Amino acid sequence: MKTPKTIIALLLAATGLLAAPAWGAQAIEIKIDAEKTGPVINKNIYGQFAEHLGHGVYEGMWVGPHSKTPNTKGWRNDVLGALKALKVPLVRWPGGCFADEYHWRDGIGPRGQRPVRVNTSWGGVEEPNAVGTHEFFELAELLGADTYVNGNLGSGTVQEMAEWLEYMTSDSKSSLAELRRKNGRNKPFKVDFFAIGNEAWGCGGNMTPAHYTNLFNQYALFLKAPKAHRPALIVSGGYDADTKWSEHLAANIKDIDGVKIEGISYHYYTLPTGDWTVKGAALGFNETDWINTLNRTLHIEELININVAAMDKSDPKRKFGLLLDEWGTWYDVEKGTNASFLYQQSSLRDAVVAALNFNIFHAHADRVRMTNIAQMVNVLQAMILTNKDKMILTPTYHAFQMYIPFQDATALGMEVLNNTQYTLEKVSIPSVSASAARAKDGKVYLAVVNTNPNKAEEIDLSLVGKNIAGVKGQLLTAKVMDAHNTFAQPRTIEPVAYSEKAKAGKMTLTVPAKSVLVVAIE
Ligand code: AHR
Repeated sequence: MKTPKTIIALLLAATGLLAAPAWGAQAIEIKIDAEKTGPVINKNIYGQFAEHLGHGVYEGMWVGPHSKTPNTKGWRNDVLGALKALKVPLVRWPGGCFADEYHWRDGIGPRGQRPVRVNTSWGGVEEPNAVGTHEFFELAELLGADTYVNGNLGSGTVQEMAEWLEYMTSDSKSSLAELRRKNGRNKPFKVDFFAIGNEAWGCGGNMTPAHYTNLFNQYALFLKAPKAHRPALIVSGGYDADTKWSEHLAANIKDIDGVKIEGISYHYYTLPTGDWTVKGAALGFNETDWINTLNRTLHIEELININVAAMDKSDPKRKFGLLLDEWGTWYDVEKGTNASFLYQQSSLRDAVVAALNFNIFHAHADRVRMTNIAQMVNVLQAMILTNKDKMILTPTYHAFQMYIPFQDATALGMEVLNNTQYTLEKVSIPSVSASAARAKDGKVYLAVVNTNPNKAEEIDLSLVGKNIAGVKGQLLTAKVMDAHNTFAQPRTIEPVAYSEKAKAGKMTLTVPAKSVLVVAIE
């Protein structure tokens, strides 16, 4: 006799909602080997990026201490609460392109007396400098996050950069350290990472790899922070399929006694069309746009592979990390908004994009030790969107929240067997992407993405040498591909509880179409 569940499965298969394996085809199987441990998935893979761009910092996060909007030290309480719940491990600031026009002295001292500048990178709007060094570190301390400060190589000087670092980190009685104290901060700030420039090949100065390398070696020599407060340095690297930056930098960056170089940065954005003039819409897209977007985001794995291979030529022991400090979707801006503010909606598709990227980053965690999604609030693939006093959490936020157990977890051996392809027209991508790790709480976690918007998948799950009693976790999916939250309907898409028990020693997961699933294995 058929159980009700079998009947439902047959109905789903008949309607195309559940992928029934064709006759003779084997079910998709995920096999985890918890004895085969891989690298630690650095928590900073879940890093964020907050640039002085549009309403990313001002309005989106910073309202000032005298605002009617409830705030702590000028930072909005609602956004702070949401970001704390996300366990943001790291924040990169102040840019991006903005970093190479930012002069740190503009952002210290009494706020009312700070100069107003023009943000020439992002719309020529006024930059009030209300958020400066002290405010940024207060934000990081409120979030309990590590800090990544991006220095100005493009339009600054080596002296200006060295003095910023002295201001932030000196515990001496030097005039700069005393100025910091006068401005309200006695002990040095905790600068975890410091980058010398950003996109030196473009908005950071139109340089060649060789020119940038010489400048990096020169600047790094003069960034003399006291040992106890010395940040790890970040080398600004390449983008897309151009590997000459990774290759040249890995071979020519000089070691400096006592200075850690965390790695070489790299940027890749996912555009549905792959065309910067017409990128594609954030919402209201069709299935061709869906598969093209996922296909382009999956391409990051090949880009990581070629960049790692380029770095391996001179750094086979993998001293330098490949740090993807800008990634995510980049769509045509929302109609009616300032085109320079890069404001876009985020849908279920973005959550799937984020999860596919996480699974790839985990698989390359030996080199990929940091990533920073662009960006945290109101800009590009944001976690949070704000409108005056209102705030919504995006599906991307939910994907980050579901993957929290993977922060500092140990990657585990895992195979996806009999994976099928999801195909539309000429594009074909794997239906299932997965990643497994042992988290700091001791449990084994599994993340699964079903890329197919039309078919659920039944997946057999096994743990080598162990019986699985069941799984428990969270599932993110929706009826439509562009499901999203709005200020009027802020909870249209959010994760739901998911659990399954093993039956007769067999553990089967039903993973709905177009979904992200993260479970702990019991
Ligand atoms: O994230 C937006 C911009 O994209 C950054 O400022 C820049 O580094 C990149 O080109």
